[in-house]
Amino acid sequence: MMRQHWIPRLKTVMPVFLLSLLALQTAAQPAARPENAYNYTIRKKAEGSQGAVVSAHPLASKAGMEILRKGGNAVDAAIAVQLALAVVYPGAGNLGGGGFLVACMADGRNLAIDYREKAPAAAHRDMYLDSAGNARTDLSQSGHLASGVPGTVAGLFSSHKYGKLPFSELIGPAIELAEKGFAITEAEASSLNNTRSSFQKYNTRPTAFIRQARWKQGDTLVQSELAGTLKRIQAAGQKGFYEGETARLIVEEMKRGGGLITLEDLKQYEARERTPVRFDYKGHTIVSMPLPSSGGLIIQQSLKMLESRDIAKMGFHSPASVQLITEVERRAYADRAQFMGDVDFVKVPVKTLVSERYLQERMKDHVPGVAGKSSVIGAGNISESEETTHLSVADKWGNAVSVTTTLNGGYGSRTVVGGAGFLLNNEMDDFSVKPGVPNMYGALGTEANAIAPGKRMLSSMTPTIVLKQGKPFLVVGTPGGTTIPTSVLQTILNVIDFKLSTEEAVNKPKFHHQWQPDVIMVEKNFPEELTASLRAMGYTVTQRGQIGRTELIRIDYPKKGKMRLEAVGDFRGDDHAEAY
Ligand code: DON
Repeated sequence: MMRQHWIPRLKTVMPVFLLSLLALQTAAQPAARPENAYNYTIRKKAEGSQGAVVSAHPLASKAGMEILRKGGNAVDAAIAVQLALAVVYPGAGNLGGGGFLVACMADGRNLAIDYREKAPAAAHRDMYLDSAGNARTDLSQSGHLASGVPGTVAGLFSSHKYGKLPFSELIGPAIELAEKGFAITEAEASSLNNTRSSFQKYNTRPTAFIRQARWKQGDTLVQSELAGTLKRIQAAGQKGFYEGETARLIVEEMKRGGGLITLEDLKQYEARERTPVRFDYKGHTIVSMPLPSSGGLIIQQSLKMLESRDIAKMGFHSPASVQLITEVERRAYADRAQFMGDVDFVKVPVKTLVSERYLQERMKDHVPGVAGKSSVIGAGNISESEETTHLSVADKWGNAVSVTTTLNGGYGSRTVVGGAGFLLNNEMDDFSVKPGVPNMYGALGTEANAIAPGKRMLSSMTPTIVLKQGKPFLVVGTPGGTTIPTSVLQTILNVIDFKLSTEEAVNKPKFHHQWQPDVIMVEKNFPEELTASLRAMGYTVTQRGQIGRTELIRIDYPKKGKMRLEAVGDFRGDDHAEAY
């Protein structure tokens, strides 16, 4: 069932170093100390004219900004941010997970790079069923058997051909942060403390994340073994991860805990360049991630079901607009469950799913003011055969990059590769382990998303770029499991249709419907009278933890050749915006 989002809520601005707080309070203030890895603040909004970076952690956003200032492009910065996140945000930033990159390059090329994890060769359809046929989601969600073959490092190298600076330079900030340590935030301290018993359960080797005392804000986290892994990647490139010492350490870890990943699985892993989802919406062009992420298709289906209806006139957070978005989401998510999976393995009727005729037909039974029912409204009729993280970057040349990357749950499988210092994902749970058994985000699936050796599990990650007159206008994405497409959809509608500011578009409460369970999930600060109106229409409305941590960049072009960039980090976490 739906899990509470595991990241605790934070104050908007949070000085990390208690000492610096005290210093500010004294009458005779010493000269401000320069910001560094042990003393930094969180900034939610930044504006500039040359470049912007927004990610889940201040030190990662700063690493990206350093690369932009050095003359790197948005792809270089995105690589540096991901590597830094693997150090400073171990719950979701990763080497042992996977992700997706969508980019719109200034020369007009649109990119979609798929570095989703793959099922190991020894995986099989029923691997999480016990002898009585019951699903063992404990095994798909935690520990060694939950991990797919990691894709992140291959993804970084596959993206790097679109960058300008040497990889060895892009990995520099991450190595320094791992080797010399950094001060952890309040949120990180509390999630490390909350995960302590899982770390103890799933690890037999010492890890940097467990220590005698409880973690507190401002403590220094040093990750020497992770620094060693990063240095092997710096020296040997992709092979520094998928072959040699690191690969050997991964396989040894697998053997200690009954996992399946072999040297051959690692050696054979390849990132894939795919054709992005691309479509028009009200004078804009949306570029997003195709399968094996359902994200781009859900956004396309939803926006196309909405386009002919004047949702702006209904009003932001009006009962009518919330109902309409809910009904659109119900239908798109039903199709996700029925049809979507890895196109390298199964046939997905993508053309039909996004055709105008099909989508019009899907909305025929929608009755304004009356709740639809998932028991009646299933997937369309086609006869044809809480942790992730997002970063958005824009540079002075007009390149824009949107990346969502994940270990799946917070700290993934919670297994750290002994001697190599990084966490492995628990992405196998994103497969449908058994028809009718929901995954940790409550998502259902069918044969299309059943486990097979070498197959990629279906994702909801939705790194997206919205173009206006052919130029990047919005760079957006978020974590949040199945709620990801919802947050991206609502952020886009908030800007394009409801004309909200960037901060409002990101921070206003979100609501979510995913077909099954047949409920509207709302954030705690969702207006009460709106909930009452929805209940009066016949909806079941439940409160849940936060929905997403959206990172948004908006780019306007006040004059020819001039850019105005606004970067906003979600108030729901440590998210931090940089711009210059
Ligand atoms: O790929 C997916 O859809 C999930 N593994 C994403 C997980 C996620 O967003 C967790 N964050 N809250």
